[in-house]
Amino acid sequence: MPGGYFRRGLHKEGVYSLLAPTFQESPAKMRLVLSALSACVAVLAQTSVDTYVATESPIAKAGMLANIGPSGSKSEGALAGIVIASPSTVNPDYLYTWTRDSSLVFKVIIDQFTSGADTTLLGQIQNFVKAESILQQVSNPSGTVSTGGLGEPHFNIDETAFTAAWGRPQRDGPALRATAMIEYANWLIKNTSVSNVVSNLWPIIQLDLDYVAADWNQTTFDLWEEVDSSSFFTTAVQHRSLREGATLATALGQTSVVSNYETQAANILCFLQSYWNPTDGFITANTGGGRSGKDANTALASIHTFDPAAGCDATTFQPCSDKALSSLKVYVDSFRSIYTINSGIASNAAAATGRYPEDTYMGGNPWFLTTAAVAEQLYDALIVWKGQGSLNVTSVSLAFFQQFLPSVTVGTYAASSSTFTTLTAAVETFADGFLAINAKYTPTNGSLSEQYSRDDGTELSAADLTWSYAATLTAFGARAGVTSPGWGAAGLTVPATCQTSGGGGTGTVAVTFNVYATTFFGENIYITGNVDSLQDWSTDTALLLSNPDYPIWTITVDVPASSDIQYKYIRKVNGVFEEWESDPNNEFTSPASGTYTTNDTWR
Ligand SMILES: *[C@@H]1O[C@H](CO)[C@@H](O)[C@H](O)[C@H]1NC(C)=O
Ligand SMILES: *[C@@H]1O[C@H](CO)[C@@H](O)[C@H](O)[C@H]1NC(C)=O
Ligand SMILES: *[C@@H]1O[C@H](CO)[C@@H](O)[C@H](O)[C@H]1NC(C)=O
Ligand SMILES: *[C@@H]1O[C@H](CO)[C@@H](O)[C@H](O)[C@H]1NC(C)=O
Ligand SMILES: *[C@@H]1O[C@H](CO)[C@@H](O)[C@H](O)[C@H]1NC(C)=O
Repeated sequence: MPGGYFRRGLHKEGVYSLLAPTFQESPAKMRLVLSALSACVAVLAQTSVDTYVATESPIAKAGMLANIGPSGSKSEGALAGIVIASPSTVNPDYLYTWTRDSSLVFKVIIDQFTSGADTTLLGQIQNFVKAESILQQVSNPSGTVSTGGLGEPHFNIDETAFTAAWGRPQRDGPALRATAMIEYANWLIKNTSVSNVVSNLWPIIQLDLDYVAADWNQTTFDLWEEVDSSSFFTTAVQHRSLREGATLATALGQTSVVSNYETQAANILCFLQSYWNPTDGFITANTGGGRSGKDANTALASIHTFDPAAGCDATTFQPCSDKALSSLKVYVDSFRSIYTINSGIASNAAAATGRYPEDTYMGGNPWFLTTAAVAEQLYDALIVWKGQGSLNVTSVSLAFFQQFLPSVTVGTYAASSSTFTTLTAAVETFADGFLAINAKYTPTNGSLSEQYSRDDGTELSAADLTWSYAATLTAFGARAGVTSPGWGAAGLTVPATCQTSGGGGTGTVAVTFNVYATTFFGENIYITGNVDSLQDWSTDTALLLSNPDYPIWTITVDVPASSDIQYKYIRKVNGVFEEWESDPNNEFTSPASGTYTTNDTWR
């Protein structure tokens, strides 16, 4: 079993200490023996990872399927096609279905099915499509299907809304769901007919793509559900979904949406560039949050927007792009000194990684899925370098490559060069090292939780995390050279100036919101709505109204001119969210100039 194998296996340090007498006799001989030994150690490490891949693959796949209703062995109560995040119900309670996790999991399943690797999965995919089409229509605290509800992060496993306070909305979900379903749609076009896809699958995909096209330029909670700002992972997957969405729409003859998707995709690609931090050489994960910005968010974005046809393009932050490699190094290095289990590891060898160095959630430990993501980004890079028969070292990626070959300089190295051979072999060993670390902390039964202890590597937090299994499978696939279909990332150009989703419209108007609402002591009225200045439907940062003429509550806010403005009032008691106004949203079109006043009554 994987964990036991590593614990009992031959350790590198152990091998070297056996040779200590030889070192003293002759330094030259020592160097020779050492270099032969490093090759041996690399082979041993590779064999160990081979063993892990062989034993863990079936366990990871079974672990993933066990968490999908209606017949998964660990997902009792989940309806058909519903993916639970984990069977854990206490500390933490993850027995819910997240749109992000479910879509990433089904992307793996759809990849396996459409590639022919496992043709038994069609029923699961059909259940998923049905379940998600139902969830899209469930009114929830983020709104209805047409007023922002698609951005709701998670639901109960019986397909009802989760109504307690949460970090909402999370705008990566609809994009990831569209990406999974677009891959299935492309298979259905070949396997059945365009008209079948137009009538059955396209309406579901279009709802998500329309949402992305309309709302990408509003703030969102990040994939870790903590920071409300703009987030690289979200922006990157939104971009991808609109590109492949435009291609699918064209194939289906749905031409009316194409130019809007393409326009917004170009706007998003422009915005995407702004996350790059040239001074420190990494991609900043979030525009808010007050942290270092070093975050697994960015490696995850690279692997989930990998398009082998795009080579090492840095505008889409492809896995082998200089920016993504530089960023990966900065991210990995941020965990070297903070986790006890990383102590004693060489500064250019694989280390356990977590979500972000400042993390304290459930102890802020390494995660299986983030450590697997590092390996996957490196394997993806190797696929491209080997496919292209060359590798570029730029001033941006120099520090990444110098970890393995301090003498390397900026340049292009053909596959026939020894530099190419040295660097690709080193990157392969580095990548395997991340899987070897996960292997070391995988218990003998192969179960993968969310985290493992930063102090001793024992499993922590949610058991059997579905995403841990999915991430392990995709990393294994990349190691074996498996890629999934591209999405049109090749040859894109970044617009010269960045436009907002509104196409560059400017100007705001002052709107006074008046609402008649009786309240009790300690209870206050807040407003939140569909534009930045109305806090993008956030309940946490909703704006407090004042009541000089109680029971009329009032606030004046600048909103975009000539725009569709939607909003609701909410009640909080002593600052704690209590309730939303009932549906539908309040709505008006703001004037081109001047001011506007609403006269509402709490519903
Ligand atoms: C479509 O795929 C299913 C499942 O793989 C197969 O049974 C069926 O024959 C295929 N139909 C066509 C028209 O290719
Ligand atoms: C909206 O897009 C503009 C232009 O790229 C950008 O400056 C702004 O930060 C974006 N806002 C959000 C919340 O995405
Ligand atoms: C290396 O750079 C050259 C010139 O910029 C480019 O044409 C080529 O595609 C790059 N190769 C890789 C593997 O990135
Ligand atoms: C697998 O092993 C871990 C660690 O010993 C344990 O917590 C978990 O319950 C086991 N899972 C199963 C399904 O036996
Ligand atoms: C609200 O009342 C004010 C003052 O009576 C009035 O000027 C304004 O037009 C009203 N707003 C709407 C939307 O009817």
